[in-house]
Amino acid sequence: MVAAVLDALDEARSPAKVEARHLPVLRHLEAVELCGDAAVDAVMEEFLSLAPALPWIQTAGYRGVLSQDFHDNYGYVQLIGPTSIVEHRSVRVGIGVWGPNLHYPSHHHEAEELYHVLAGEPTFTSADGAPRTAQPGDAVHHAPWQPHQQDFGATPTVLLYCWTGEVVTDAALVDGGC
Ligand SMILES: [Fe+2]
Repeated sequence: MVAAVLDALDEARSPAKVEARHLPVLRHLEAVELCGDAAVDAVMEEFLSLAPALPWIQTAGYRGVLSQDFHDNYGYVQLIGPTSIVEHRSVRVGIGVWGPNLHYPSHHHEAEELYHVLAGEPTFTSADGAPRTAQPGDAVHHAPWQPHQQDFGATPTVLLYCWTGEVVTDAALVDGGC
């Protein structure tokens, strides 16, 4: 999975123009805490400097299903993938932000997923595992169609996500979420 992502990153080229699109979640970036790990913080600092110029989006299928509060407190930038800054049909790479104490209900997707925690203390719960609180620098893996939910900590969470396989279809809530 990681090899496919690295190949996509190698092939990625910057587009001529990127149009910014802002979401309410951007207000949380001021409170993002750097973790002290030089490698993680280097990515975070670059992302924070670029964030206002990037096209922030949300999952279309969640509109009208998840609450307005949820929508006011999350968003992501899809760097590589279908209809992304850099087009790719079998790899998605992006960075998402979730506000403090938000609950992301159980969801799943056909794509295989690897999260890298860049900031915050999110707790991940999979249908087949105990809750696990992750720290910046940790990686969290989900197999295709493995249901998972997240509970975000007291400070804003920033996650880098990678998807491989069937990446065209967005995540969907499991049984309406819980
Ligand atoms: Fe996921």
